Amino acid sequence: LDNGLLRTPPMGWMAWERFRCDVDCKDDPKNCISENLFRDMADRLAEDGWRELGYEYVIIDDCWMSKQRDEHGRLQPDPLRFPGGIAKLARYVHDRGLKLGIYADMGTHTCMGYPGTTLDKIEIDAQTFASWGVDYLKFDGCHSNPVEQMIGYPRMSKALNATGRPIAYSCSWPVYVGGLPPNVNYSLMGEICHLWRNYYDIQDSWDSVINIVDWFSNNQDALQPAAGPGRWNDPDMLVIGNFGLSIDQARSQMALWAIMAAPLIMSNDLRTLSNDARAILQNKVAISINQDPRGMQGRRLLQEKSHIEVYWRPLSNSASALVFLSHRQDMPYLYHTSLAKLHYDPGSYEAYDVFTGRTMTGLTHTTDLKVSINPSGVVMWYIYPTKHKRFHNTW
Ligand code: DGJ
Repeated sequence: LDNGLLRTPPMGWMAWERFRCDVDCKDDPKNCISENLFRDMADRLAEDGWRELGYEYVIIDDCWMSKQRDEHGRLQPDPLRFPGGIAKLARYVHDRGLKLGIYADMGTHTCMGYPGTTLDKIEIDAQTFASWGVDYLKFDGCHSNPVEQMIGYPRMSKALNATGRPIAYSCSWPVYVGGLPPNVNYSLMGEICHLWRNYYDIQDSWDSVINIVDWFSNNQDALQPAAGPGRWNDPDMLVIGNFGLSIDQARSQMALWAIMAAPLIMSNDLRTLSNDARAILQNKVAISINQDPRGMQGRRLLQEKSHIEVYWRPLSNSASALVFLSHRQDMPYLYHTSLAKLHYDPGSYEAYDVFTGRTMTGLTHTTDLKVSINPSGVVMWYIYPTKHKRFHNTW
């Protein structure tokens, strides 16, 4: 959606994958969906270096609501778990230089059974969110049919715009109609939403991550051209820092999400994150590749018989990113290639290895490249043409 928001993919934190619908604040006060959880995460984003790197959205997911609308028909938060209300939470988040996201569902109920936004409630819900100072809406699609979705998603886009408050708009619509053309009209998505979920929910496992990557790559001809500044495909949250991914697999998720110009929205516990996970999520070059202002989504270039895949994303200033991904399960694999084989123009290049910090100089398109890739791991390079050294007059 071309209104000045999300010119690069959004970055931040979202509750769902890690904290789900834990509403047991009595026995699990640190992990239940409550204002305390979002305040804790806002504190961590503000104090642990995340905000400066671009991680700015704190996003509430399902299960924040009271089971009833108020006497004016407005959504309201659960009074026990959000006693201060959402407006106060938004102030808390804004005071820390961050932005607040919230969740609603186009349908009769949210996926977890809280009040939904039926067609007659779209305007009032948009206005409620704007009046609270919300900056981002995730609009889910459980318990509605394709006809209602066809009316409801564009109507919510209009309703948010009519509030006059800049609110980023994330649409789950494609997921509920199969994720692909002709059921999904991706140019329409780009006109009404800033980002959209295309495919199933991520889970905390490598199986889930690689299944998502495979689906996006197998369908890249339909998906990749849909993305650009203000309009992003969303392969779902980063699960780095939870229980399911090894260090190599966590790097793989970070690298592939950067190639895909995907939202970098973590769902983890920022209070207990390991240093390894933090280093991956705070990798400045991976982030700058993700956030490249040209906003062109990358593609899978090659699928080798060796089960090595090569991904490529063109970046601004003639730079580009390459990711070598191993689908193998045996041992580090030594992959031989050259920039010419990867369709680079003749010329001289330098490459920066995003996860080791090593720079390779003096490359040409024909240089033999030998890349060692760990099982379910990646090697990621930032590549740029060598600057022609100016002739320095020394008289
Ligand atoms: C389905 C969505 O795809 C998830 O990301 C999450 O929002 C759940 N619904 C919440 O019920």
